[in-house]
Amino acid sequence: MQNELEALNKTSFEKFAPLYDTILSREKLLENPFFADIKNNIQDVGGGTKLLDIGCGTGDLCIFFANDGYNVTGIDYSDNMLIVARNKVSLYKAHMTVRKQMIEDPNFKRNANVSAELSSVRPKIRYFVDDVLKFDKVKDQFDIVTMADTISYIAPENIGTALKNINDRLVSGGHFCVILNTSLSFTNRLRRPEDFFKNFLDYSSGFSYDEAKGAYKLEIKFKPNDTVKEPVDVTLYEFLHPLRSFVDQFMAAGFQIVRMVPNTPVFAHDDCDIDMIIKNIDDTYSMPNGVYSVVIIGRKS
Ligand SMILES: C[S@@+](CC[C@H](N)C(=O)[O-])C[C@H]1O[C@@H](n2cnc3c(N)ncnc32)[C@H](O)[C@@H]1O
Repeated sequence: MQNELEALNKTSFEKFAPLYDTILSREKLLENPFFADIKNNIQDVGGGTKLLDIGCGTGDLCIFFANDGYNVTGIDYSDNMLIVARNKVSLYKAHMTVRKQMIEDPNFKRNANVSAELSSVRPKIRYFVDDVLKFDKVKDQFDIVTMADTISYIAPENIGTALKNINDRLVSGGHFCVILNTSLSFTNRLRRPEDFFKNFLDYSSGFSYDEAKGAYKLEIKFKPNDTVKEPVDVTLYEFLHPLRSFVDQFMAAGFQIVRMVPNTPVFAHDDCDIDMIIKNIDDTYSMPNGVYSVVIIGRKS
C-alpha cells in the first residue's frame, strides 16, 4: 500500500514535471556517458532488446535506448512527467528527421509538413501511467527492466513488493538494472544543499533529514518570472536503502546478482563474496570521493 510520503511525492512530481528538465537536463542526451555505461553493463551480462524503464520521468533513458534500436516502454505514476516525455520524443524525432533531410539534401528547406514523416523515425517508445507498486496497465514481460534515480522514492516497507512486481515483469533469465544511491550521496547533499543543481530559472533549494519521518527532504522553490507565473514549491521525500538490506531483499525477490558497479566495476561471479563487496563499498562512505551510487544488475533466476 502506498505510504503517506509516497503519496506526497506523487503530487510533487506532478507539479515538478514541467520544470524537471530545467534542473536536471542531460546535455548531449544521446551520448550521455551514464546511460552508455548502463547499456554496456546490460549488454555484457545478456541479450534482449525489449526494455521497460520504471519511473521514466521525462524519458531521457527511454530516448537513449530507443535511439539505439531497443524496443522501449516507459512507465511513471506521474501523468505530467509522461506529457513532457511524449513531447520530448516528438522533438527528437523532428530533430532527427530534419537532420537526415539536411544531410541528404544540401538545398533542404525546413518543411512545415515534417510531422507527417515522424512515425517512420526512431525512437519508438510506448509510455504508460503506471505504478511499480501496482502494475495495473503493463502486463507483458520484458528482457530488461531499468530503474534510474527512482528507487529512493519507494518507502522501505514497499521495496519487497516493488522488487517482486519487477521480477514478475521479466522473462526468465531477464535482467533488472537499478541505480541505488548510497548513504554518501545523501550526506554529500546534506553538506551542499544549495549548490546541487544547475538551472536557468530563479529558485532556491534545501536538503535536510526529517528525523520524525525517517526520510530525506528535498525542497525546491521556483520564484515567479517570465516562465513561472506563480511560485511553485516542490517537496520530495527520499529514503535511504542501505546496500546490505537492499541486496537481501533483491535476492529474496528472485534475483541472482550478476554485477555491482560502484564507480569501478565489481563482477559478481557465483563464488564471489557479496559481504566483502558490500563492506568495501561501505568503507568508502567516509571518503569525499567514495561510492555515491551503485549500479546493481540482477538476473531473474
Ligand atoms: C527523480 S525522477 C527520475 C526520472 C528518470 N528516471 C531520470 O533518471 O531522469 C523519479 C521518477 O520516478 C517516478 N516514480 C516515483 N515513484 C514511482 C512509482 N511508485 N511508480 C512509478 N513511477 C514512480 C516519479 O514520478 C519520477 O518521474
